[in-house]
Amino acid sequence: MSDPVAKPRPQFRNISVTQLMSYRLPLAGKLSILHRVSGALLFLCLPLVILPLFAASVTSQETFNDVAAYMGHPIMKLIVLVLMWGYLHHFCAGIRYLMLDLHIGLDKAAAQKSAGIVFGVSLALTLVFALKLFGVW
Ligand code: HEM
Repeated sequence: MSDPVAKPRPQFRNISVTQLMSYRLPLAGKLSILHRVSGALLFLCLPLVILPLFAASVTSQETFNDVAAYMGHPIMKLIVLVLMWGYLHHFCAGIRYLMLDLHIGLDKAAAQKSAGIVFGVSLALTLVFALKLFGVW
């Protein structure tokens, strides 16, 4: 028989779109969403942006000069920077997932810590590449 004074058990349901902004996703959850976003970005941009630019850069001296000229434009640099972030985030988060697959750092505290490390390392690397891309050094 059920206990009349027992507190009702919490129920966890899927949230609706209107609750998205107030839902407190843990850092590891945000990392996971961005891993999927960056994977999709790389998947789409590899045939549409990266390979055509690479092909043009190695086809002839003239096409190389054209690519070098496009790449000097700040909008192109921003696009390349987003792709760099996508790759660096996906790479660092991917290494974390491979460690989790090996059952390393599975508990909640370790998983939160490694999510923070992935954000820190990937954003720091993106900053270094951004400084290089925009000619700071
Ligand atoms: C251009 C290169 C890459 C592309 C286009 C790509 C694309 C993707 C996509 C679309 C997914 C599925 C994401 C999802 O459904 O949540 C994925 C998952 C994954 N990627 Fe990549 N990826 C690339 C490079 C890498 C690299 C270099 C690593 C290694 C560090 C890596 C590690 C992983 C792992 C471990 C998963 C599975 C994550 C999970 O268990 O949910 N990827 N990738």
